[in-house]
Amino acid sequence: MKRVAVIGAGPSGLAQLRAFQSAKKKGAAIPEVVCFEKQSDWGGLWNYTWRTGLDEHGEPVHGSMYRYLWSNGPKECLEFADYTFEEHFGKPIASFPPRAVLFDYIKGRVEKAKVRKWVRFNTPVRMVEWDKKKKVFNVTAHDRVKDVMYTEQFDHVVVATGHFSTPNVPEFPGMSKFGGRVMHAHDFRDALEFKGKDVLIVGRSYSAEDIGSQCWKYGAKSVTCTYRSKPMGFKWPKNFEERPLLQKLEGKTAYFKDGSSKQVDAIILCTGYKHHFPFLPDDLRLKTENRLWPLNLYKGVAWEDNPNLFYIGAQDQFYTFNMFDAQAWYARDVMLGRIKLPKLDAMRKNSAAWRKREEKLADAEQMIWFQGDYTKELIDATDYPSFDIEGVNKTFMEWEHHKAEDIMGFRNNAYRSLMTGNMSPKHHTPWLKAMDDSLEAYLQVGSAPAKAKAKPAAKKKVKA
Ligand SMILES: Cc1cc2nc3c(=O)[nH]c(=O)nc-3n(C[C@H](O)[C@H](O)[C@H](O)COP(=O)(O)OP(=O)(O)OC[C@H]3O[C@@H](n4cnc5c(N)ncnc54)[C@H](O)[C@@H]3O)c2cc1C
Ligand SMILES: NC(=O)c1ccc[n+]([C@@H]2O[C@H](COP(=O)([O-])OP(=O)(O)OC[C@H]3O[C@@H](n4cnc5c(N)ncnc54)[C@H](OP(=O)(O)O)[C@@H]3O)[C@@H](O)[C@H]2O)c1
Repeated sequence: MKRVAVIGAGPSGLAQLRAFQSAKKKGAAIPEVVCFEKQSDWGGLWNYTWRTGLDEHGEPVHGSMYRYLWSNGPKECLEFADYTFEEHFGKPIASFPPRAVLFDYIKGRVEKAKVRKWVRFNTPVRMVEWDKKKKVFNVTAHDRVKDVMYTEQFDHVVVATGHFSTPNVPEFPGMSKFGGRVMHAHDFRDALEFKGKDVLIVGRSYSAEDIGSQCWKYGAKSVTCTYRSKPMGFKWPKNFEERPLLQKLEGKTAYFKDGSSKQVDAIILCTGYKHHFPFLPDDLRLKTENRLWPLNLYKGVAWEDNPNLFYIGAQDQFYTFNMFDAQAWYARDVMLGRIKLPKLDAMRKNSAAWRKREEKLADAEQMIWFQGDYTKELIDATDYPSFDIEGVNKTFMEWEHHKAEDIMGFRNNAYRSLMTGNMSPKHHTPWLKAMDDSLEAYLQVGSAPAKAKAKPAAKKKVKA
């Protein structure tokens, strides 16, 4: 029997497990699937940890999520086509769920699929090597509970370890003598730490926008965002501003490129993450910055130089969960021999054409359509339930528009599910006033998550 190693049990790795289980349910013979997960539970970044630095085993903490994190995009854009929010929660729910609600949803699908037995928890993968003669991968893993390292052979490896965990940490002159807290977004956990403080945020992307907004919401005295390329340009509230790039720090004074300065108490570097695969040798390792079309991956998934290796979720992401599904279903069908890959030259040509298109993208709207087209191409190649990608793109456009209108209020909007056709209700409390991010508060249920699931809705028929 063939064997497949899936590295990581976050949304991408879980999509791969579900893809195989779905084929099995339809009667296909599937390989043995072993998923290695370095944390003690599944869910990837959505599995919140209070820890920073090293975990209980001395491994780098994977988590970059923080308390009070709410989805930054509408849930209607990431909904699984084979497991809707309505199926999971038993009713339509509002469009921007906090982390705990999305975590519950992600878990619900794989609990239903009964694939937990495929996962070896507390087991980081240390090395993957290709044995040219035997045409197998040697995968070395470390069982942290028994403290035993072992090597097993696999026909295929799927890398699903995420790329928003290893921080990119630039240094600015004067930082080593700065009189306050300096941290990267990866280590940010609780905005209340910055109540009453003047906070400096470095960066202009989603972490900067969201961590800045969080700090403001939970009582920071002021928030200053400093940008390298261009400002975010939202209509920020009072005591929230953007300035050109930080040049140096003297004591607690920050000096900016336009010659201005400001006293700050804390600096949060929202400067992005590095693709980091310490368990892969040079010939198998994806080397890229965070972008929509990394090279060397055919269809964004198969490692062109050795297409027994796959990457799920390696791109920058507008689309997330349902794009990971599209990728996982595609990778599965290559592994099952249902999809035959072209020769190396043709794969490279195809990737080069996507890259050329990617390089011409001028704004977020074009990027969304690009990623939508990509996701659709993959979905059309497999039996993943097809859904209205154009509708998802349009929902993203509405969301962009709502953000431009009101950056502190865009989460109060509601959108229609592209999977069920049902309109989501507006949330009961405006985001700025909603301080409790628990599942119970969000769903207004008396007790545990189980209660939310107690009354399943009439189940949508799914093909997968
Ligand atoms: C702060 C933050 C907020 C976000 N918010 C949103 C949002 O609102 N909506 C949205 O759609 N997306 C959001 N994202 C994007 C996020 O990337 C995806 O939602 C999703 O978590 C990606 O899934 P993944 O499985 O690819 O990676 P991850 O979720 O990072 O999971 C990777 C898994 O691999 C495991 N792993 C890593 N190395 C090893 C190893 N060597 N051996 C074994 N296991 C390993 C990790 O422990 C982890 O469980 C956010 C990202 C960040 C950083
Ligand atoms: N609530 C939420 O759902 C939420 C919250 C936070 C993050 N996220 C997700 O997390 C992921 C990562 O987002 P991210 O913002 O951390 O990373 P990112 O999108 O890769 O952005 C990195 C940012 O760092 C800046 N930067 C890098 N090096 C710099 C330097 N030396 N000096 C100044 N600026 C520098 C970049 O500036 P330039 O643009 O100028 O190059 C860019 O603005 C995204 O998928 C996002 O959606 C979601």
